Amino acid sequence: MPLRTSDIKSSDYVGKEVTIRGWVHRLRKQKENTFVLVRDDRGGVIQCIFPAEKVSNLTVESSVEVVGIVSQDSRAPEGGFEIKGKNLKVFNIAGIDYPIGEYQSDQLLLDKRHLALRTRRMIAIAKIRHSVLKFGRQWFIDNGWMEVTAPTIVKGAVEGGSTLFKLRYFDEDAYLSQSAQLYLEAMIFSLGPVWSLTPSFRAEKSRTVRHLAEFSHLEAEAPWVDLEDILRVQEELVSYIIQNTIAERKEELAFLKRDTSELKNVQVPFERLRYEKAIEILQSRGFGVEKEDGTKRSIVWGDDLNIDSERELTKNASKPIFVIGYPLEVKPFYVKEDPSRKGLGLAADMLAPQGFGEITSGGLREDDINSITSRIRKEGLDPAAYDWYLDLRKYGSVPHGGFGLGIERLMRWITNVEDIKDTVLFPRTMSRVSP
Ligand code: 4AD
Ligand code: MG
Repeated sequence: MPLRTSDIKSSDYVGKEVTIRGWVHRLRKQKENTFVLVRDDRGGVIQCIFPAEKVSNLTVESSVEVVGIVSQDSRAPEGGFEIKGKNLKVFNIAGIDYPIGEYQSDQLLLDKRHLALRTRRMIAIAKIRHSVLKFGRQWFIDNGWMEVTAPTIVKGAVEGGSTLFKLRYFDEDAYLSQSAQLYLEAMIFSLGPVWSLTPSFRAEKSRTVRHLAEFSHLEAEAPWVDLEDILRVQEELVSYIIQNTIAERKEELAFLKRDTSELKNVQVPFERLRYEKAIEILQSRGFGVEKEDGTKRSIVWGDDLNIDSERELTKNASKPIFVIGYPLEVKPFYVKEDPSRKGLGLAADMLAPQGFGEITSGGLREDDINSITSRIRKEGLDPAAYDWYLDLRKYGSVPHGGFGLGIERLMRWITNVEDIKDTVLFPRTMSRVSP
């Protein structure tokens, strides 16, 4: 079996013959020798040295198998190991016009993302993503939540009608799911605390560095919880994912030049900040919001928080902050009204520190059939599309709640990459459905 470069670097193979398979990452031709940097199928690289005439037709990204003797040389890149090549088998000679070199525009890297996945940067990001997903799942499994999956072709909006993707479903109209929430709510009656990881779709018409048209949504729902229970799940989940990911992905985060010392602070508990207090803080700092005509006015009670206000609130924080108790008007129909604070919802958003902004939304759900029906109407939605959902309030309704976490939002914070498009392997945005 061919080895990977990590095997060679971690065990004592010096002086021994090894076989590795991979792709030509870089080529440096000298008069007598050619230095071939081979990248294996997990992105590890090792320098292989061949007599120049033996590899004269080799090109970058050709797929190869190298047989050779391992030696240690402090001058060799990537940890001082190299392979003195004896045999080279070529699977495919790559075309000489491989479009990705050392420097290229962001646009090209997106247009050629199927090839850009072979860059060290994308490999590092993909590995961090793997860890984030793995530890997210692990937390739920370790804490006794049941994994479920919900359909992604649905009849109703969850997060407002304006970001729905409509599609023709045989002879009727349907939508791509914005959130699994309503289905998870149906499941708690027989399955208890449940969670799912599914794609969610939003026809986001704005081009921003934190919105995708398709994102990975980690959602959870449980019966008989109060708001504090739901906050505790989120802070434990997020700190567990972060602490384990920074431990497992030191090398990749270092490659991305992510300083992880501040991420080490991300331990429970996270601060809880009431919405009205958040507005007061923003007012005391003279924070303004943009009006439709482009002019500014002071932020007031009733305004939703946007990325600028979220940044202002978290700019000096080293841990996420929960903003709790938003006015019902800025939240969807399903948010439960706080019985002791009329007009306010038992809802919370988790804002990542240093301006990364919202990464989760959640809270308690309205469980009374009359209140939720009128809230559906108020939002301009058709209660008929929610008849099955309303059944949940008719037959054995219970207090319940949950939340949704955007994996790419969390990734953006953990990796500190500027654009959310770089936290996913094949991004979907308003202007991109390919590759
Ligand atoms: O805040 P949102 O819209 O809340 C819901 O969908 C709830 N139904 C979830 C629930 O309670 N089960 O979305 C939840 C999270 C956001 O906090 C954000 O992290 C992410 O999903 N998100 C997006 N991520 C990338 N691109 C977008 N366009 C996103 N929209 C939401
Ligand atoms: Mg939200």
